[in-house]
Amino acid sequence: MIKRPFNWAAAYFAAVATIATANAQTATQVAATGDGGDQALIDHGKMTYAEKCSHCHGPGMLNAGTITPDLRRFPDDKTRFFTTVKNGKNGKMPPWGDLLDDDQIGALWAYVSSQRKP
Ligand code: HEC
Repeated sequence: MIKRPFNWAAAYFAAVATIATANAQTATQVAATGDGGDQALIDHGKMTYAEKCSHCHGPGMLNAGTITPDLRRFPDDKTRFFTTVKNGKNGKMPPWGDLLDDDQIGALWAYVSSQRKP
């Protein structure tokens, strides 16, 4: 009779321990998929964009009334993005190859891709 509450308590703690372990595993899996990493990359690109690109391309990827294209509609073409950003285009888009390394351009690409409109 006196043992019963003990058993319930033991069962309760066992269950809590199981749930805690499961939560810990889920957290590890989320970290391992790199979701957090992607967001950090996008944020990094966003900062570089604000610093180097937004005065021509507009704060939201579009600068209405100018000749800069709407970057939200840039095609899903990473090679073309890298080529244009490194080499410039038509003497109007400046070349960035000497100023930005591949990691920075990769972060810009992550940011531009995250804003893409179909
Ligand atoms: C001095 C103004 C200026 C700055 C600064 C600038 N751009 Fe541009 N960008 C342009 C113009 C103008 C065009 C359109 C060129 C054309 O098509 O003739 C362009 C075009 C582009 C394109 C489209 C290229 C294509 O292949 O169609 C991309 C992508 C781009 N810019 C990215 C960037 C990024 C990223 C930055 C910041 C690192 C940046 N630009 C900074 C003026 C600028």
